[in-house]
Amino acid sequence: MACAGKLEQHRIVPMTSILGISAFYHDSAAALVVDGRIIAAAQEERFTRKKHDPGFPGNAIAYCLEAGGVQPEELDYVAFYDKPLLKFDRLLETYLAFAPAGFRSFRLAMPVWLKDKIHLRRVLRQQLKFAHRARFVFTEHHESHAASAFFPSPFDEAAILTIDGVGEWNTATIGVGEGNHLRLLRELKFPHSLGLLYSAFTYYCGFKVNSGEYKLMGLAPYGEPRFADAICRHLIEIKNDGSFWMNMDFFNYCQGLTMTNDRFHKLFGGPPRQPESQLEQRHMDLAASIQAVAEKIVLNMAREARRLTGKKNLVLAGGVALNCVANGHLLREGTFSNLWIQPAAGDAGGALGAALFLWHQLLENERQPEKHDSQQGSFLGPKFSNDEIARLLDAQKIPRQKFDGEVELLGEVTELLAAGKTVGWFHGRVEFGPRALGARSILGDPRNSEMQSVMNVKIKFRESFRPFAPCVLKERAADYFDFPADAESPYMLLVAPVLEKHRIAISETDRKIMANDPDLRRRVNVVRSTLPAITHVDYSARVQTVDEQRHGRFYRLLQAFETKTGCPMLVNTSFNVRGEPIVCSPADALRCFLFTDMDALVLEDFILRKEQMPNVPSTEERARRHATFSAD
Ligand SMILES: [Fe+2]
Repeated sequence: MACAGKLEQHRIVPMTSILGISAFYHDSAAALVVDGRIIAAAQEERFTRKKHDPGFPGNAIAYCLEAGGVQPEELDYVAFYDKPLLKFDRLLETYLAFAPAGFRSFRLAMPVWLKDKIHLRRVLRQQLKFAHRARFVFTEHHESHAASAFFPSPFDEAAILTIDGVGEWNTATIGVGEGNHLRLLRELKFPHSLGLLYSAFTYYCGFKVNSGEYKLMGLAPYGEPRFADAICRHLIEIKNDGSFWMNMDFFNYCQGLTMTNDRFHKLFGGPPRQPESQLEQRHMDLAASIQAVAEKIVLNMAREARRLTGKKNLVLAGGVALNCVANGHLLREGTFSNLWIQPAAGDAGGALGAALFLWHQLLENERQPEKHDSQQGSFLGPKFSNDEIARLLDAQKIPRQKFDGEVELLGEVTELLAAGKTVGWFHGRVEFGPRALGARSILGDPRNSEMQSVMNVKIKFRESFRPFAPCVLKERAADYFDFPADAESPYMLLVAPVLEKHRIAISETDRKIMANDPDLRRRVNVVRSTLPAITHVDYSARVQTVDEQRHGRFYRLLQAFETKTGCPMLVNTSFNVRGEPIVCSPADALRCFLFTDMDALVLEDFILRKEQMPNVPSTEERARRHATFSAD
């Protein structure tokens, strides 16, 4: 693995090196900050190939230290993203409040807490025994989220909103950041939680909590929010100050092993949907309803944040900040002039936030916001050299074409894309956060009406009712989407409507399919715009804007595609199959390429073509491999 070569020149002798860690809950990660500069950040799942790996992020830590050229014994600080004793306090108090109910979940949770979590300092010391010089610091969960949102942002001052399931006690905070300092001004506490409310509906509609929330959001455009009133009447009381209160008579997450209880099920017309079973209109309406309520709450909180802070910039983090439909409304509503969202908004980003909080807030070091933010496009993970790739390809006798000039390489790639081929794109440093942003992506032509089903069935091995996301040249985004001309979405965290002029009339037959075909794939496959692969049933799209500064070669690829075809946009989906973490190494990418029907693979300066591959795995071999990944 090659480390971030270009970073080496910035590093002279490190003054202060801080390792940030988030671990033992969901999506473990590490980040390295040296003298305030973000050197590296990565999720453990990319190395272990276990999606959302919650274990100790030993591989991610090793990578971050290597990337910074920092020996473990040189580390000055280790910053952990939450306070385990406070979390334990919440667990105990919640149990006592509901006792004797909840004994079973309490009994299941206790051994893990008593063995590891409560003694976290000792566990971390053991795991990082070579970091004997380092001081260990524990920051609060929402301080970590807030720091991950504000400190890398391009703003000198901003309102801060963090919203997630739960940290220690807090589930949402409103704060303010000025210069090198942030303050949390308002806190919403467990069990009242927008993240957990959304997860309760995720669970009830048969998707996995902590990862299926995206699916629920994607399902919402198929439904009508006919349950929104019932949610506001029975489950939740939304207050004018941006907070809300939840009626726990309908939920089971304080005392049980499920999110919802029989009262909840009765209110919404039946038991929870079994995962993978047929989706009914009721589930779509529920998805639309909770999405509408969530948006209302987020907009309320944002208005309160504006009122409290008077700032015109807003930064966001916490798992709910990945709800890009709500973010899109927030942007268009205009409560704030500018919006910046931490791309690793979930708990992985806490590793980065903890390290930055320590550097700026606790050590009181200055902060100079960068014009384009200091997240570096979130390309903070490992990269690999042409030599390393050549050695891998030689060892497996893989035929390939090497390009010495970028123009020729991009010419060939755009030729493939324009011919309707699907292309695996592997370039530069791995993304930090859940989205593929042009370092580990699968690309296709968004104008192609077949692209959606080809990518779903032959590559992702899933049957999705969600369209793919577009990446578009930043300067052309407003030509296609209802998107402020000066706004940007480099981290694919904003949904925007496709402009009327790109929509096309729907035939009567297609209108019927759209209205009531039980197979949602048929509905999403109805051609509604000149960009069918990326247009959702409500004409929305999850947009990534691509700019030269952050995206380099990926930006030039889009430029070359526009020159060739007139279209400044590509489909950009993550480089993986269903249930697999996004690929990290060239070996991961090669395996994914060989085990799917992807047409071509670009590994840095090499292009591999499927028809030239020897020993492509059989259908049975593919099926066996894909079965090793759990459904996401
Ligand atoms: Fe969180």
